[in-house]
Amino acid sequence: MLHSDLIRVNDLLITVLLHSGSRWPSKGSKPTAQPVHVSLAIPHDISSTARSDDLSQSINYSTLASTLRTSLSPAAASLEEPAFESLEQIVFRCFDLLLLPEPTSTPRLPGAQIRVVQLKPPLHCQALAVEGVATCGADASWRLIELHHIVENLECYPIVGVNPAERLERQLVRINITVNDPSATGMSVHWLDFRTLTRRLHQKVEATSYLTLEALASFVAVETLQHLQSNSNGIIDYNPKVSIKAAKPCALVFADSSEVEITRVSNDYPTELHSSPRSLNHSASGDMHSAAIALGSNIGDKFQNIELALRLLENPLSVVTDRSTLSDNAFLFVVNTSFLYESAPMYVTDQPSFINCACMIETNIPPVVLLQLVKKIEEIVGRRPSFQNGPRAIDLDIVLYDELVLDTRMPQEQLTPDNLSVDLVIPHPRMPEREFVLRPLFDMIPEYVHPSLHKTLSTLLHELLLVSNDPPMEKVLVFPRYPLPPNVSSPLSGIGPVPSTLTFWRYTDSKSVRKVQSKTKGRTRLMATLNATPDSFSDGSTHNTIPSALAYIRQAARASVDIMDIGGYSTRPGAAFVSVDEEIDRVVPIVQAMRSAGSTTIEEDNEEIRRVKEMPISIDTFRWEVTEKAILAGANCINDVYAFTGPQNYPYPALEVDRQQNNESMRQMKGLARKFAVPVVLMHSRGDAGMNKDYSAYSYSDDGAVIEAVREELGLKVDQIVKGKGSIRRWNVIVDPGIGFSKTVEDNLELLRRGGAVTADTLIGRVPSKRKNPLTGFPQLIGTSRKSFLGVVLANARGRSAEAKDRAWATASAVSCAVQQGALVVRVHDTHEMSDVVAIADALWR
Ligand SMILES: *[C@@H]1O[C@H](CO)[C@@H](O)[C@H](O)[C@H]1NC(C)=O
Ligand SMILES: *[C@@H]1O[C@H](CO)[C@@H](O)[C@H](O)[C@H]1NC(C)=O
Ligand SMILES: *[C@@H]1O[C@H](CO)[C@@H](O)[C@H](O)[C@H]1NC(C)=O
Ligand SMILES: *[C@@H]1O[C@H](CO)[C@@H](O)[C@H](O)[C@H]1NC(C)=O
Ligand SMILES: *[C@@H]1O[C@H](CO)[C@@H](O)[C@H](O)[C@H]1NC(C)=O
Ligand SMILES: *[C@@H]1O[C@H](CO)[C@@H](O)[C@H](O)[C@H]1NC(C)=O
Ligand SMILES: *[C@@H]1O[C@H](CO)[C@@H](O)[C@H](O)[C@H]1NC(C)=O
Repeated sequence: MLHSDLIRVNDLLITVLLHSGSRWPSKGSKPTAQPVHVSLAIPHDISSTARSDDLSQSINYSTLASTLRTSLSPAAASLEEPAFESLEQIVFRCFDLLLLPEPTSTPRLPGAQIRVVQLKPPLHCQALAVEGVATCGADASWRLIELHHIVENLECYPIVGVNPAERLERQLVRINITVNDPSATGMSVHWLDFRTLTRRLHQKVEATSYLTLEALASFVAVETLQHLQSNSNGIIDYNPKVSIKAAKPCALVFADSSEVEITRVSNDYPTELHSSPRSLNHSASGDMHSAAIALGSNIGDKFQNIELALRLLENPLSVVTDRSTLSDNAFLFVVNTSFLYESAPMYVTDQPSFINCACMIETNIPPVVLLQLVKKIEEIVGRRPSFQNGPRAIDLDIVLYDELVLDTRMPQEQLTPDNLSVDLVIPHPRMPEREFVLRPLFDMIPEYVHPSLHKTLSTLLHELLLVSNDPPMEKVLVFPRYPLPPNVSSPLSGIGPVPSTLTFWRYTDSKSVRKVQSKTKGRTRLMATLNATPDSFSDGSTHNTIPSALAYIRQAARASVDIMDIGGYSTRPGAAFVSVDEEIDRVVPIVQAMRSAGSTTIEEDNEEIRRVKEMPISIDTFRWEVTEKAILAGANCINDVYAFTGPQNYPYPALEVDRQQNNESMRQMKGLARKFAVPVVLMHSRGDAGMNKDYSAYSYSDDGAVIEAVREELGLKVDQIVKGKGSIRRWNVIVDPGIGFSKTVEDNLELLRRGGAVTADTLIGRVPSKRKNPLTGFPQLIGTSRKSFLGVVLANARGRSAEAKDRAWATASAVSCAVQQGALVVRVHDTHEMSDVVAIADALWR
């Protein structure tokens, strides 16, 4: 508890970067510099200083004040520190600064009281303040014991008074509101939406015409309590106390009572606040919440389990059919996904590895009901009851829900992070020690501030990696098995059949800096191209008949090719138009021939035939009609040089005339990629491959214009594909910088030379609006094979040109560079030769 002697510093004026008061997910709001007053009080026994007048016994106020000033103001904050999302966050940051132990400093302070006042608050009120009291925990932490939210001098003009003269005109009423949050129970709403509250109160109060100020104050209390309740996310036992002070400054002429003060809790209004917090009537609020759900699987077809769970999650009404639990208007959308990871089992190590990922959802389902939904999904996907942390078909954890801090367990059980089987603890208590939870969250919301640890997820992950001795988690890319068997069924109507897994690729981020090296060395994957086009630039018409195509594919299988890329429409500048039907006729029979290899002729059922049958096939097309037919025939991956935006895609977002067509292409391709759960290769391009080579608009970037352009332009499309309602899973995306498409020779060389920078974890954009590289962490496919820029370099160096088919050695050099830059896949024609090149390059650099 706080000691009775207090040392105060009052009204320290500090300028901070503050978002408009709207908080995470901050929908693009720009932070602005705002003045705040910070006051602090530190409990301190002054008796010894008072007696001795000894400076060393006293607390140095000037150091405290300057620590706060320098650490909170934007000069220090601009780069490392995110802007503050709310006043609460500033208060918590002050506690961090004052109460967390520092190696150099004098003894730790026992506790502190902080008040932060926003001096330029929303309309209609004079100041907003958040006041907190915290004490030091035993370890390196602090504990919040009180939190107050204060609105000062909300000014409204209602009709109020008994006097006939008073009832003719509106008059000024000033209202102060204090909300006391019973944080000590650990079940608090730390964040108050001041803006919505003051707007609501102002509107409602102006419409009243009470006779007495007492009635008006009581009305304000009810409105405030209702607002708090509707924002409490159905927390059980959330019981805030509000104090209302109301004054009529101009009332004295009427000799009226000019000021009242009341304090109320919701039990004081049994009829007005009829829906008690326990009844969870979410249809009444109809609002939207963001939550993060972690998924893990370690038995059966893990990838199929995860995909099925996600589809079930998006169909909450089919999963929970009891409408007294889940109302008719319940919705849930998966709006963002992480990458997919394979991790060694934790705690109980004698079991198969886990596949982990996480997703962000938007929903109107309150947390306690959401828990029932995920339990039901675990049951449907086939969770078998097993020992804690043991094997399971699917495990779903609600790890975050808005900024909620919630523990539904009995107080005596709250001391342990386990025993969660039927209860809900948010944020998930073991999150800080679990890389397999933190890392997927970091992919999506690195700047989210953990509501009780007060650190960003990025900080938590880095702290964990500093002490971790585990090998790095590997990312995984999954190919589903097509064609589907004729009668696969779905566990629920409304959900398409989820394919089983054909194969999957593990890979590590080459840039992940770890103490411990990966146990499995990464391997660059080889994609062979098969152009089923009579006019393809590089191999003429050699493969446009089924037998010669199959011969080429068998040869590729011998060269350990990992994936076959089949295209029927050349993207070469000036290539002849091919109709949709013609394109389908060119590619689909080859896909069918591969999938039925060995079954028609009487061939020996050898290893090579098996490899041809099981080889992942990607379909190189930008047309959804072709994509659909090819996947139904057995293709497992989409490779689209226009990244779902169609050929008329430059500049992008498209010009008015092309928008409709692009939109349709995006919608259809996203729909197919989602329905079939196939990986997609999204390439950077700017319309016609021979044009639009000007990147000067990006010359501001230190990383060079063309690299920045690919991050920005392809990033825009990738964002549109992996974010929001109806988006595809992040782990299903491979990016391709589009070497040879709308780029000069030097641009192509630069993209190859510094290819790793395209997907680096860095900031992009111009200075005031820097943002995270949207391509961060995606695996890359690099295609250089036989491309004309290699011919130009050869011609310049040797004084003679090299035909496409004579560029194999030049390609070898380029492929080697792509491997060194960390490409996951290289796309080649000369499979036999490049297989050797990749083997040596992998041995050198992976
Ligand atoms: C407080 O610290 C500052 C610098 O850290 C120093 O200049 C000042 O003399 C100190 N004041 C007292 C009263 O110790
Ligand atoms: C509201 O609080 C402010 C600041 O503490 C004070 O000046 C003002 O008199 C209060 N108003 C009422 C109605 O109590
Ligand atoms: C839930 O809210 C709806 C709409 O406001 C209301 O009609 C219904 O009676 C409420 N149900 C309960 C159980 O409070
Ligand atoms: C809680 O967990 C402990 C140890 O894991 C176990 O012994 C205990 O029975 C559990 N309690 C409940 C209520 O599940
Ligand atoms: C993922 O979605 C969340 C919530 O909509 C958003 O805040 C975040 O920026 C997204 N992350 C990425 C990397 O797109
Ligand atoms: C699935 O198809 C096979 C033959 O193709 C048939 O024997 C089997 O009964 C079918 N199963 C169901 C559930 O329809
Ligand atoms: C794209 O289509 C959707 C509906 O399919 C529509 O709501 C949206 O406005 C369209 N966007 C453009 C840019 O045309």
